[in-house]
Amino acid sequence: MASSNAIPIFFLLALLFGASSAQLSETFYDRTCPRLPNIVRAAVKKAIETDIRAGAKLIRLHFHDCFVNGCDGSVLLEDAPGIVSELNSPGNQGIQGLEIVDAIKAAVESECPNTVSCADILAQASKDSVDVQGGPSWRVLYGRRDSRIANKTGADSGLASPFETLVQLKKKFSDVGLGTTDLVALSGAHTFGRSRCRFFSHRFANFNNTGRPDPSLDANYRGFLQGVCSAGPDTRANFDPTTPDVFDKNYYTNLQAGKGLLQSDQELFSTAGADTIAIVNSFAAREGTFFKEFRQSMINMGNIKPLTGSRGEIRKNCRRVNSAMGGEGHDVM
Ligand SMILES: *[C@@H]1O[C@H](CO)[C@@H](O)[C@H](O)[C@H]1NC(C)=O
Ligand SMILES: *[C@@H]1O[C@H](CO)[C@@H](O)[C@H](O)[C@H]1NC(C)=O
Repeated sequence: MASSNAIPIFFLLALLFGASSAQLSETFYDRTCPRLPNIVRAAVKKAIETDIRAGAKLIRLHFHDCFVNGCDGSVLLEDAPGIVSELNSPGNQGIQGLEIVDAIKAAVESECPNTVSCADILAQASKDSVDVQGGPSWRVLYGRRDSRIANKTGADSGLASPFETLVQLKKKFSDVGLGTTDLVALSGAHTFGRSRCRFFSHRFANFNNTGRPDPSLDANYRGFLQGVCSAGPDTRANFDPTTPDVFDKNYYTNLQAGKGLLQSDQELFSTAGADTIAIVNSFAAREGTFFKEFRQSMINMGNIKPLTGSRGEIRKNCRRVNSAMGGEGHDVM
């Protein structure tokens, strides 16, 4: 009888291991890089000390990574033979922070060479950026591998634009399996960081061919922003005029006051009859509610179509695929 039981147990184990190689897990690097969370956190803190915008840059990279072919580090690949970089897609205009990723990756490589993917580094660094600046913390899931391709056409069609309507934004989220609560919660990352005037100055006059400014933009705030933007379209304004560098719920109280910076921010609250209004109100009322949903939505986003098991690779240099010869990508930087 014992021997006939052995077969089902074997199959059960095979199933479990099979499943774990296709899923992300908190313990993925426990044996191969146990200090990973500490290494990344220290590097993120150091980056934020010299550049207060570092956290916002890192989380944007993770977000734009996950929305194109899943969280596979594809956003980080630069133009190269056979690679058409996603960085040149309109949705990635002005994206920054690759040198911050390089610094984090170098710190990780020195302790755990050829072990940790760039996609996992973006996920961990995003969590650290949020909690270093006052937001929630959570247990990051790991086990993503890096793509050997970029998908610029995927970036062109999949990344959200500040000029889109709520219906279009919802569609882009649902295309990657994310819902309305994810959209509202993840937009809350605009509680820190900056945006350039070229992405919102169309709201100042003749908005949507109406001959008038965007009616959902508070008039005093509009006047303030016009002053900021008189310095030119590449001038930056804070996403959150109240606490620009703190991760808090003020993004939502700003929306209630008509002080969302981008059209795509304010639509969450100002689109008539939208189901997002009640979610904005609940996040504005209680920071704990926002933090809880944000944590969950970051995990949901981090789970989008990861490359796992033996697919993809562990990139040595986050900006390019490993070379076929030598495997580990001999750096010629
Ligand atoms: C690129 O992205 C598009 C849109 O998501 C998708 O249909 C296409 O299969 C992707 N191409 C590759 C090579 O992954
Ligand atoms: C702009 O106008 C079009 C046509 O009137 C309308 O369908 C669309 O919802 C408007 N967009 C915004 C953001 O108000």
